[in-house]
Amino acid sequence: MDKFIIASNGPLNGEIDASGAKNAALPILCAALLSDEPLHVTNVPKLWDVNTTRKLLLQMGCTAEQPTPHEMLIDARPISTCVAPYELVKTMRASILVLGPLVAARGEAHVSLPGGCAIGARPVDLHLMGLEAMGAEIRLEGGFVHAQAPAGGRLKGARIVFDTVTVTGTENLMMAATLADGETVLENAAREPEVVDLARCLRAMGAQLEGEGTTTIRVRGVKALRAAKHQVLPDRIETGSYLVAGAATRGRVRVNKTDPSMLDAVLVKLQQAGGKISTGPDFIEVDMQGKRPLAVNIHTMPHPGFPTDMQAQMMAMNCLAEGVGLIKETIFENRFMHAQELLRLGADIRIEGNTAVVHGRERLQAAPIMATDLRASASLVIAALAADGETFIDRIYHMDRGYEDIEGKFTALGAKIKRVAKLI
Ligand code: UD1
Repeated sequence: MDKFIIASNGPLNGEIDASGAKNAALPILCAALLSDEPLHVTNVPKLWDVNTTRKLLLQMGCTAEQPTPHEMLIDARPISTCVAPYELVKTMRASILVLGPLVAARGEAHVSLPGGCAIGARPVDLHLMGLEAMGAEIRLEGGFVHAQAPAGGRLKGARIVFDTVTVTGTENLMMAATLADGETVLENAAREPEVVDLARCLRAMGAQLEGEGTTTIRVRGVKALRAAKHQVLPDRIETGSYLVAGAATRGRVRVNKTDPSMLDAVLVKLQQAGGKISTGPDFIEVDMQGKRPLAVNIHTMPHPGFPTDMQAQMMAMNCLAEGVGLIKETIFENRFMHAQELLRLGADIRIEGNTAVVHGRERLQAAPIMATDLRASASLVIAALAADGETFIDRIYHMDRGYEDIEGKFTALGAKIKRVAKLI
């Protein structure tokens, strides 16, 4: 297992390019299962979770060529099994995204249940409820979800109302509906930009749908989808993470090849923190002009609210800010694990239920710490940059799941960050 060694740093200063969005790439790669013709996906980020998805598709019998490191050409025609095994699913919950496409296109799916997750219970009941409403027969047995399409092999259009906004739930059912008999209406659908990107890809494949980006998505099922090419949109969470790192270190960071329209809620907070924000069609820059950030209050919400995937990074900034920041997590029930690690660096955080009260400190102190989940790990890097001494961060495989070339990008911004292989 690799570790990061991060030395105390002054303000970050420089520019980097955003990679393609992990949370868009994963459902889009799974959408290839809906067609017997190839799907060519570009701007695919180089990440462990993308690798896991590719392995999942390969073990089902698909081909998944990589003409260049950021492209994938998937052909699901040779598929030989509709099973997603525990060994792969347990490393990545998003594997559940094969469920909708498999049952819609192949009439059956056998997907291991993702099980518990570090950031909360994260059930998949809404995915299953939706497929049942579309006529699938669902059985839970041996730790697997077994789903079978109705007689005739085709799902039926249905009106599905989500009682909680779910991103992958919306994606799974939107994909399933593209091949269903009749119209499906998804109410209280997720509005995340990654859902919109998936809808665009499905449309390029011949799907008939509208309303993506709103709370009602309508899909009219078609008999078959065709070959298509799709470019994955930029990663707004990666973009936001580097901007917050710039703000926390009193620096100036510009992220290119991104899209400011996806980050409104985060940019408002960076502005409240005292950052000077400049944007263009494909870049965002935050410049703290050497000033310490001001603490901000955060309340996580489904898009277009403040993203839960940026909560940990903002907590790290608040640990270094002037004043007191309140952070309320409303999406996941156990998403403050990074607070324990930040405390080890000398942060002043008090957790009360789903709220963290953070009193800013001028500096933090280095200590050995451990990454606990994907986004939490980015917050630890941010805090370590502003800690006196050398911080060792263990279990950085969490970071490799979702941040492409994290040490290369931080180095480009002037950080002293080194990856070392752990000897024991
Ligand atoms: C996705 C993102 C993840 C992000 C999250 C919230 C991907 C691959 N992952 O995860 O990075 O943190 O959205 O923005 O896109 N829920 C249920 N029943 C269900 C499904 C969800 O109760 O069947 C609950 C969850 O426990 C949670 C809430 O709904 O409290 C939102 O979860 P959801 O949007 O489904 O998260 P993911 O799609 O797993």
